[in-house]
Amino acid sequence: MTAPKLALSEQAAADITADVVVVGTVQQDGDGFTLAPGADAVDAAFDGSLVDVLTSLGATGKAEEVVKLPTLGKLKAGVVLAVGLGKQDPTSEQVRRAAGAAARALSGVKRAHNLLSQVDLQAAVEGTVLGAYTFTEYKSDAGDGPVGRVDFAAENSKENKATLKAATAIAEAVSTARDLINTPPNDLFPASFADRAAKLGEAAGLTVEVLDEKALRRGGFGGILGVGSGSSRLPRLVRLSYKGPKASKKVALVGKGITFDTGGISLKPPANMEEMTSDMSGAAAVVASVVLAAKLKYPLEVIATVPIAENMPSGTSYRPGDVLTMYGGKTVEVLNTDAEGRLILADAIVRAGEDNPDYLIETATLTGAQLVALGKRTAGVMGSDDFRDRVARIGQAVGENSWAMPLPDELRGDLDSRIADLANVTGHRWGGMLAAGHFLKEFVPADLEWAHIDVAGPAYNSGGAFGYTARGGTGVPVRTIAAVLADIAENG
Ligand code: BES
Ligand code: MN
Ligand code: ZN
Repeated sequence: MTAPKLALSEQAAADITADVVVVGTVQQDGDGFTLAPGADAVDAAFDGSLVDVLTSLGATGKAEEVVKLPTLGKLKAGVVLAVGLGKQDPTSEQVRRAAGAAARALSGVKRAHNLLSQVDLQAAVEGTVLGAYTFTEYKSDAGDGPVGRVDFAAENSKENKATLKAATAIAEAVSTARDLINTPPNDLFPASFADRAAKLGEAAGLTVEVLDEKALRRGGFGGILGVGSGSSRLPRLVRLSYKGPKASKKVALVGKGITFDTGGISLKPPANMEEMTSDMSGAAAVVASVVLAAKLKYPLEVIATVPIAENMPSGTSYRPGDVLTMYGGKTVEVLNTDAEGRLILADAIVRAGEDNPDYLIETATLTGAQLVALGKRTAGVMGSDDFRDRVARIGQAVGENSWAMPLPDELRGDLDSRIADLANVTGHRWGGMLAAGHFLKEFVPADLEWAHIDVAGPAYNSGGAFGYTARGGTGVPVRTIAAVLADIAENG
């Protein structure tokens, strides 16, 4: 990832020395569109005819539409790039998506001046950094590369500087998660992922602890060891701790780190199996989030507990029928080795609970059933009622769609096992996401405020780029976690 340089700019439109000026367009309720706030001076340089000229080029103001126009000397900048915000009045998510679409269209440009910051500075910055994101680590030719520098039209005030800094840090955390997800599984395996997490943690001044397979065995982490037993590349548990100034609350983060999920002995079908390189998206998100908490000096204690394993079939694999003794002593009968995420999470949740946190936020690419229920772009949130609803609401507010899901009582009994305390799957397909939620709940300390975010769909974009979302790893739900942490810091 190479990010563009970002700055605030008070330059008047006529003096703008950038190569491209980005203006927003907004669809009207009836026909036609208007220019978004901030574009007046650019319009004046066109003698008030900018809407007409753009209309003649086909512009409508539709979300993410990009229309380029040469200025022919009317401005110092050579090109106006008009990007659609969609319907009025634009929300921050509309600004973020438009900024993302503009940033993608600016690839190869040296310097742009963005007026969307006049609508929403934070969203314009986040959208720009995320839209400019590319992953070229494995390309012989990296192509044009992202826009080199973007100036945001905004007063150079203390408040705006703080917003620029926070928005940049948040977008960089998302990019960090994307980089980890996009790294292929031959290079990102438990030990190498643990190393990268430890390096990121150390650079941010966090306390870092890595348990290797021997330490996991001594500690009795039967879930992580069981799932990791089929791979020649043995599992890890990473712990990253941050203690902020005047920390008021303690928040535990847990994320699923399956570096590749073949399903194990309960082997997955071959179609799209390569996407299981993203089965560590939850882990990537919590690693990036605890580092972000330190960068932004949240007045919280944040402890990330990250179980990492590769789920492979082999002569040493765990198998259907095995009984695992989890960290903390509960026993689990494995009926399907492809329901592995909940097994490594269970160990990590029990370990995280030992720190006596006030809140537990957990995230995973947990179930295909999440996709069936909510589709590719809406995460399912389960947990204790109040905190679950709070996390779902915040997820929606930051534009990472999420929806609160129930844990119906009658499903719990379907996880009863003939010989162990619990089975890892039910005997049917109904409510698969909720059954997984029930399983996790068995390991969450009673009365702890808890939310699990199932991002099986949202973590990975298998289609084309849209808005600020690139192909591949999306970094969801980093921005939700960041906003929940900020909310806890402010409101307890
Ligand atoms: N990693 C998968 C879930 C998944 C599926 C994530 C599709 C992203 C896209 C998880 O480990 C899994 O295999 N879950 C099983 C559970 C089942 C065996 C109860 C599933 O959803 O099929
Ligand atoms: Mn699986
Ligand atoms: Zn999985």
